[in-house]
Amino acid sequence: MNEQVLVLIKPDGLKKSLTGNILTRLSETKLEIVACKIVRVSKELAIEHYKHMQDKPFFEELIKYIQGEMHDRKKVMAMVYWGPNAIQKVRQLAGSTNPEEAESTSIRGSFGRITTKGLYENVLHASTNETEAEREIKLWFDPVEIIVDLYPTKIVTVEKEKKKVWA
Ligand code: CDP
Ligand code: MG
Repeated sequence: MNEQVLVLIKPDGLKKSLTGNILTRLSETKLEIVACKIVRVSKELAIEHYKHMQDKPFFEELIKYIQGEMHDRKKVMAMVYWGPNAIQKVRQLAGSTNPEEAESTSIRGSFGRITTKGLYENVLHASTNETEAEREIKLWFDPVEIIVDLYPTKIVTVEKEKKKVWA
């Protein structure tokens, strides 16, 4: 059955010019990219994304890390990969969370590092399970930004909403 997974190329991945490399590795999965954008990560988005890590001693560092404050690259590349067994396939190629424990041929094993403060800089994020994927995809993307219908949607009328358009 088809599944979807949120993938983020984290600021260290962008700073180290690993985008092409990571996309090439992920293309081995034969999954389809159904959404993709560059995002400037607000503190609110960072905290919401990592809310399950709130009690960890490294939480503040983690929030700064995903916002790009340590890498002079205040952005991430956010994507949705879609296809059979997508979560397991992407997580397998990504490797373990701890880059030192990750298989050396995996993406994190090849390019990740542990900072002197003990934070794992592991170049990409991938959702762990279907529940997490749904929460994360809905957090990072609006339905119109994804080219397939992954979850139920509804039409609402929004009035008096301010929107930036081309001048
Ligand atoms: O990203 P993943 O799902 O593999 O791991 P997680 O347990 O959900 O942790 C989220 C992120 O927190 C990791 O990707 C690391 O960047 C960071 N982390 C860390 O720095 N030190 C740990 N002991 C655990 C996680
Ligand atoms: Mg996780």
